[in-house]
Amino acid sequence: MIEELKSHIKSVEEYTTQSLDEVEAFRIKYLGKKGILNQYFAKFKEVPKEEKKTFGQTINQLKQAAANKVESLKNELAQQIEDKGIYGDLTRPGEPIEIGSRHPISIVKNQIIEVFANIGFNVSEGPEIEDDWHNFTALNLPEYHPARDMQDTFFVQNPQNDGNEDLLLRTHTSSVQVRYMENNKPPIRTISPGRVFRNEDISARSHCIFHQVEGLYIDKGVSFKDLKQTLIYFTTQLFGKSKIRLRPSYFPFTEPSAEVDIYWGLETETDYRITKGTGWLEIMGCGMVDPNVLKNCKIDPKEYTGFAFGMGIERIAMLLYQIGDIRMFYENDLRFLKQFKSTF
Ligand code: PHE
Repeated sequence: MIEELKSHIKSVEEYTTQSLDEVEAFRIKYLGKKGILNQYFAKFKEVPKEEKKTFGQTINQLKQAAANKVESLKNELAQQIEDKGIYGDLTRPGEPIEIGSRHPISIVKNQIIEVFANIGFNVSEGPEIEDDWHNFTALNLPEYHPARDMQDTFFVQNPQNDGNEDLLLRTHTSSVQVRYMENNKPPIRTISPGRVFRNEDISARSHCIFHQVEGLYIDKGVSFKDLKQTLIYFTTQLFGKSKIRLRPSYFPFTEPSAEVDIYWGLETETDYRITKGTGWLEIMGCGMVDPNVLKNCKIDPKEYTGFAFGMGIERIAMLLYQIGDIRMFYENDLRFLKQFKSTF
């Protein structure tokens, strides 16, 4: 009988399976109520006295071996199931990663940056919460200047309430240009893209939060014709249209100032609608930097001159993609955003 037990031990030790059901069947076969072990225990009485000790020890070895086997097989299989749960079938072909799309505002912003980077402009950024100096006063808009009304401003109460002036949400990225001039010596060629805020009613054409790109070029002998040529280069690159006109206008920080119109054409019904039948579209403001602004930023206006321009990114994006309502940009409607999937 001892020999029998030893051969059971051997087959228990060699046993293996990939199925949890079979492990359970194995357990019942050896350790169950009517299992092999209990059958041998029952025979204990019949064993001659002098063999009882060895018999007992061997039977215990078999019990231990079977219990160990059940335990280790269970662990092994549980581990395999867990691995599969996390990684699945490791030989399965991969699933394509879904690539998101850039927001149209980012796409157009990057396009504008690239056009100007190609003629030596760098990119500058500044804070969205500004002080009065950088958003207004340095730009030739002292306190009580009526032109402050051109840009309805959101004010932010000074958080420290320490008697210092209140802050504001910048109404244009010209504030970044002031910061740039304060910290850099001419020649300066920089564009400042960013988010701006104006207390305006939200409609299909305007929003209280939108984006701008403003440009600044300061060097010796910069003239209005440099400005015009730069604008023609820009509209040709971005829209493929080179016919522009400059309409006299007013900005406190530039003199002379102009509004830039681009000749869009009158080929389609949409062209008629968006240009109100004229073929012309206003796309930005510009002018020669007012000498007072240069002085405020510690640049000598006798030595240097410069031009500046500023445009709304939403407006440009609406023209490029024929988007009829500015609110689309902020609603995060996937049906809208997905249309820009293949564009970078
Ligand atoms: N800062 C002006 C605005 O936001 C745009 C502008 C910039 C006009 C530079 C002229 C020169 O309306």
